[in-house]
Amino acid sequence: MRKFLIAGNWKMNGTRDSAVQLADEIVRGLEPSEQLEILVCPPFIFLLEVARRLKNSRLLLGAQDICADDNGAYTGEVSGSMLREAECRYVIVGHSERRSLYAENDSLVARKFIAAQNAGLIPILCVGETLEQRQNGQTHAVVLGQLNAVLEVAGLQAFGHAVMAYEPVWAIGTGKNATPEQAQEVHASIRASLGSRDAKIASRIRLLYGGSVKAANAAELLKMPDIDGGLVGGASLEAKEFLAICKAAG
Ligand code: 13P
Repeated sequence: MRKFLIAGNWKMNGTRDSAVQLADEIVRGLEPSEQLEILVCPPFIFLLEVARRLKNSRLLLGAQDICADDNGAYTGEVSGSMLREAECRYVIVGHSERRSLYAENDSLVARKFIAAQNAGLIPILCVGETLEQRQNGQTHAVVLGQLNAVLEVAGLQAFGHAVMAYEPVWAIGTGKNATPEQAQEVHASIRASLGSRDAKIASRIRLLYGGSVKAANAAELLKMPDIDGGLVGGASLEAKEFLAICKAAG
């Protein structure tokens, strides 16, 4: 049985005070079932402070990015071992904003995925097509291409300790989510692609959907057979809304 995972990606939002307040409110409001893991991914600078608030709670901590190298002269970067020290358990890699705004290519994403696992973190590998790619009928080719690029470098077994998130670029921050059927179709194709290599890994890996998830659409997305959770952006910045999404999963 796969455990649902709801992850809040706070992106570059908030202040130290608002981050602490949000973490506190989520911790106070949590009623997680055994079948549910809940995770927040604050900006790096707030990780230590938020980690302190999460002590003795069921809320887990993740980071939004990781350096592909573990230490050395990499100005501005944060390594996996540093994230572990900040109590992170998960890290997002290959988010579409990193790919499009900071020119992260498949090979860098693959190196970050491996760096996360080497540091004892669980990578959440994001994949997704743009609107143009969808309109050109390239959705599956793009998504599976992004998956294959990491598979080739990290190897299949690495996916036994990873999470994937399907985040169609056109659905991120637009208020226009993929329909449950559209998301299910892509999730099923990711699972089938992994399943053609290893049935056990394919059945165990958690496939999250991200892109304008909110309390009003969470239940219908999460009831699809291959959607094992959500990667939530904007709606994770309000405790009430985020908790309602968690409730829909639990
Ligand atoms: P929104 O939920 O704001 O669309 O963002 C999705 C996302 O990018 C999560 O990583």
